Amino acid sequence: MTVPIELRVNGRAVRLDVDPMRRLSAVLRDDLGLHGTKVGCDAGDCGACTIRLDGRQVCACLVPAAQAGGADVRTVEGLAVNGDGESPLEFGDLGALQRAFLDAGAAQCGICTPGMLMAADDTLAHHPAPSDAEVLDGLGGVLCRCTGYRKIVDAVHAASNGDHRAAADRAPAAGDAVGARMPKVDGVARVAGTAEYGADARPVEGDAQMLTVRAIRSPHASARFTIGDLAALHERHPGLVRVLTAADIPGQNRYGIYETGKDQPALADGFVRHRGEAVAALVGEEAVLERIADSEVPIAWEPLEPLTDMRAAVQAGAPRLHDHADDNVLIRGRLATGDVEVAFGEEGATSAEVEIETTWVEHAYIEPEAGYARRVGDRIEVVVSTQAPYMDRDEVALLLGILPDQVRIVPTACGGGFGGKLDLGVHPLIATAAWLTNRPVRAVWTRPESMAASPKRHPARIRATAAAAGDGTLRALHFDGDFDTGAYGSWGKTVANRVPVHAMGPYRVPAVLATTRAIHTNNPIAGAFRGFGVPQAAIAHETLMDDLAEQLGLDRFVIRHRNALRAGDATPSGQRLAASAGLRACLEALRPEWDRERGAASDWNALTARSGESRRRGVGIGAMWYGIGNTALANPSTIEMGIDAAGSVTLYCGAVDIGQGASTVMVQIAADALGVPATTVRLVSGDTDRTRDAGKSSASRQTFVSGNAARLAGEDLRRQLLALAEVGAGAVLELGDGQARFTEDSRAVSGIDLGELPRLRVDDVLLGTGTYDPHTTALDADGQGIPYETYAFGAQVATVEVDTELGTVTVLGVSAAHDVGRAINPTQVEGQIHGGIAQGLGFALMEAYVPGRTENLHDYLIPTVGDIPPITCHLVEDPEPTGPYGAKGVGEPALVPTAPAILGAIRDATGARITTLPATPERVLAGIAAARGRPPA
Ligand code: FES
Ligand code: FES
Repeated sequence: MTVPIELRVNGRAVRLDVDPMRRLSAVLRDDLGLHGTKVGCDAGDCGACTIRLDGRQVCACLVPAAQAGGADVRTVEGLAVNGDGESPLEFGDLGALQRAFLDAGAAQCGICTPGMLMAADDTLAHHPAPSDAEVLDGLGGVLCRCTGYRKIVDAVHAASNGDHRAAADRAPAAGDAVGARMPKVDGVARVAGTAEYGADARPVEGDAQMLTVRAIRSPHASARFTIGDLAALHERHPGLVRVLTAADIPGQNRYGIYETGKDQPALADGFVRHRGEAVAALVGEEAVLERIADSEVPIAWEPLEPLTDMRAAVQAGAPRLHDHADDNVLIRGRLATGDVEVAFGEEGATSAEVEIETTWVEHAYIEPEAGYARRVGDRIEVVVSTQAPYMDRDEVALLLGILPDQVRIVPTACGGGFGGKLDLGVHPLIATAAWLTNRPVRAVWTRPESMAASPKRHPARIRATAAAAGDGTLRALHFDGDFDTGAYGSWGKTVANRVPVHAMGPYRVPAVLATTRAIHTNNPIAGAFRGFGVPQAAIAHETLMDDLAEQLGLDRFVIRHRNALRAGDATPSGQRLAASAGLRACLEALRPEWDRERGAASDWNALTARSGESRRRGVGIGAMWYGIGNTALANPSTIEMGIDAAGSVTLYCGAVDIGQGASTVMVQIAADALGVPATTVRLVSGDTDRTRDAGKSSASRQTFVSGNAARLAGEDLRRQLLALAEVGAGAVLELGDGQARFTEDSRAVSGIDLGELPRLRVDDVLLGTGTYDPHTTALDADGQGIPYETYAFGAQVATVEVDTELGTVTVLGVSAAHDVGRAINPTQVEGQIHGGIAQGLGFALMEAYVPGRTENLHDYLIPTVGDIPPITCHLVEDPEPTGPYGAKGVGEPALVPTAPAILGAIRDATGARITTLPATPERVLAGIAAARGRPPA
């Protein structure tokens, strides 16, 4: 039943016939085409759908359409001050808030941005000159997983104050892009609400033929099953086009990250290994599928006792999950150097031991997995939110039994990934359904589906022992880590191989024995999540550093400074750090804050203790290092840069921007290499038909690896132009009107008529190509070799306040210093640091995924704007000679030291040595009781 409603939307009168109970978010998106209103949960938890209804911010997903009758609705599309609704908006068309968001770097992936902007619009409407508390209150209902919120708060204040950055800062001149705080090249669309994410994308032919596919998932962690006769289901629902089962997968019903480790079926074949595994899929028009309950699909289940504990999984006699994994161990990692036993027995050595345990952490990107596929002759096009288009292409080809060339992956804007969108999401089922039905097929995972089916951070159990000489000089580390990789391999091998290299932290340690195992269980799949196991390992090595400092009576800062790796040192894998090892510089940058914060905390504690105050303050420090790129594996990137006959420049970049700013960084680097203003460079991003393989957006590799490829592409193109024009290397290039003109000392010296050059392909008359593959070697059985070409270093200082009666922890401030080699775009580097700290804070204090219990953003807690303290960033630039303009990477490093710094601060405040994460109030209280020598209350 539909009813007519009239409302005003962004000042325009609208009349609609709608189901009165339909969500207003769906009406805005589907009926009015206002895709700027995003949907992250459909449950009132994430705020991505925030709009203003009669002047008040509301979650549009909670508003029945009928309630909007007669109302005045304002969406993100209503914030722009200009625009005809057809041509793409430009910076000058944006409203003040949108411009402030762009300037401040307040939009990363941008999926939360429309909701955040509307909450900010509401805040400023009620408080034209808001206090910090009013901004935090106003934005409190919208979650952001990328930015760490502080730049959003800054942007709201800037908009209210009318602060604007200089135009030159937004549009650096030729040669000045590297190091400039240039706004994101795709930023206008993200703040305007016009960027297309997975759920927004539609095929060119429109929706008329579009089908939807919906997976039927296992409620059991381990079970056998059979699917019964489907005839009755088809009879009951005539619009049901197909029900896919394992038998329908046209090619190999196995996918996975590694060539030799493909173990995950697109649809389970009679046996499921984790809760949420897809066993069948309904294909039909969306309205038809909405009428079919999962329980109508005839599936007979035979539940089995699941293996949910790593210890049980490796016991003799435990059921084996996969033929490839003896004892359910997917892989073992190892690094050995020096004689650990001798080092531990050295006279005067002091040793410390720790056992840590961490649990699953959910990526909680605000954009659930989404996209569509369509068959074009004997090819398939998959338009999808992803971090890894070329890996996706090869995986889809295997699943469909076709060649990689027959698959085109077109990445949409990616609403957050953090490693979770390196694995296939909707791809297998939309591709299969589109291939078989010859109609476009889309899928958008629900939030619970996304959380049940996508990979998580590996739970870890680590036991580590370290020894130091009397002056704190580290002598040895023994590290043993088990990682629960869950039902399928995913990135488990990567974690098990990366962790041993990083097990000792960023320190000189002459004797190391580090072993790891990735273990299969019937638990959720664990895969890639910002850091690949290094954040878990950092909890262990940083706790040991604090232990040793305490035992030796040393300052926690001093012991880290004394042992810091530096240029010229050999790492435990035997690699000589030739240059760029800026940990000491990071620590020096933090030294004033360390001294000041400790002094202030101590004064505060002394003052408040007299009044019987139960809250205590403390300060902690964490340090890290992180190898850039794949571990001891080739990971090349190739990027192209072309010039067309008119003189327009295009960068063809297969590196996907998942919010971290890769597109902007590539443009800045390539533009400077060519010698043109960065704002004149067009970008083609990620499309596997139009770009070359630049690898995946993970392992903090894009700035270093693809950045080098972008630099080489720009240099190659410039070299060709110089040769054609017969001018010297220092000539200044100007492009336009079909000409390439060169000047030297402001005098015209040569020119090329670009229109006279033969076309190389569709548009371009000249094409520069750059390929870069970091110099690494395979590691031997003792983990010796060159796992990475370069390493990022960093340290963070956190100040916390702990309520010793409630066990609650408030982080009061974080100072971060990161050696990034060269900050190609300081605003974006700071954004990565802020975002990493926010995720690190969640890891330390609140995030714990429980299968079947926290499969939504209400029960699974991530930090909100009120949880994130002021953050100070120190960008340390110890140039990496092999990096593009000296750059390394920062995406993952930013998260690694946060949790150790927070845990160290809790311990400093209360004595509680927390070794099981997250540090919930119960664990903090237990830690305090243990420190006081009392049983927990
Ligand atoms: S989509 Fe409405 S609150 Fe998440
Ligand atoms: S920018 Fe906020 S979720 Fe990505």
